[in-house]
Parts: sequence; C-alpha cells; structure tokens
Amino acid sequence: MSLLILAGSSRKESLNGKFQKRIAEVAESDGRACYLYPAAELDAPIYNGDYEDENGVPSNIQKLATAISDATKIVIVTPEYNSSVPPLLKNAIDWTTRLEQNPWVGKNVLLAGASPGRMGAMRSMTHLMVVMAAIKSYVAPMFLSCPQASDETIANFDAEQIKGFLKQGD
Ligand SMILES: Cc1cc2nc3c(=O)[nH]c(=O)nc-3n(C[C@H](O)[C@H](O)[C@H](O)COP(=O)(O)O)c2cc1C
Repeated sequence: MSLLILAGSSRKESLNGKFQKRIAEVAESDGRACYLYPAAELDAPIYNGDYEDENGVPSNIQKLATAISDATKIVIVTPEYNSSVPPLLKNAIDWTTRLEQNPWVGKNVLLAGASPGRMGAMRSMTHLMVVMAAIKSYVAPMFLSCPQASDETIANFDAEQIKGFLKQGD
C-alpha cells in the first residue's frame, strides 16, 4: 500500500508543501508508506499542441505518471488561486492525460488544501474534484482543509482528522 502525496506549490515556504509534510508525518505514524512528490518536479511548459508534436510529453511528466500508476492512493494538496486550481498543478495534470495511458483511471484520489484565508482552499478543491472526476479517478468525498494556514496551524493540525481523511478508499 503506497500513498503518493503531491503538493501544488514549489515555493520554498509553501504552506501546501508544509501541509504535505504534516499529512505524511501522520500517515507514516499510522503505518502508511508515503512518497512525497517534489512539487518542482511538476514544472512543465504550459501545454501547447505544437510543443507536444515537436517534443512529446516532457520526461518529468512521464515520471510523474509512473509514480501515479505505482501508487495505490494519491493525495493532492492544492493551493487556491482566484478560487481555483493553480497553473503548476493543472498544467501537470493536463500533460499526464496526453500519455497513451491516462494514469489516473480508477485511482483513489483524496483532496487537501491550505490557504491563509478562511476558506482553506475549499473552492480550489471543489474545482479540482471536477477535473479529477473528468479524467476518471475516484475522488473521495471528504476534503482536508487547513484555513488560516500558518506554520503553527499546520504543525498542530489534528492528527485524528488526518487519519480519518486518509482512511477514505482503504
Ligand atoms: C494569484 C493568486 C491568487 C490567489 N487567490 C486566492 C484565493 O482565491 N483564495 C485564497 O484563499 N488564497 C488566495 N491566494 C493566496 C494563497 O492562498 C497564498 O499565496 C498561499 O500561500 C499559496 O499557497 P502556497 O503557500 O502553498 O504557495 C492567492 C495567491 C495568488 C498568488
């Protein structure tokens, strides 16, 4: 049983990167083997059909697709930009669906997100849910939201809530 945890911000002090680590810490203490995917590895040229015709799918996206295929469950930790999914994450997902085999088909996907605002990336997760369902993954109904995110709120995020969230799709 392997849990792949993706985060959608490669910023050094990313709150979502910190939330990714907090989720992994609790998951590992609960006996789950985790793979924290480096967000910088999601970085790819903005999808363009001409680029694809000339260069194919970028090699880092092919590696990402392998990690998705190898995982039994995937947590996506998304920031929220203007109420939606940030381009780093959306673009990487779009690229993965250009491969001959869409790696998301039939995968259990759990959505988490952190933001300094009161909505805690809920609107981003709602949009991402629609995208992930469209590419044929199974999106778990319970989201893990960290509102008013800071180093403190993330470090103290309730472990039992994370464990309950992670049970989805077991
Ligand atoms: C272009 C842009 C749009 C944003 N829109 C929202 C928003 O709609 N809701 C929200 O809660 N935060 C919004 N934010 C603030 C982000 O939640 C905040 O920058 C957060 O720290 C980004 O995630 P990260 O720390 O993981 O990089 C926005 C930030 C940017 C740069």
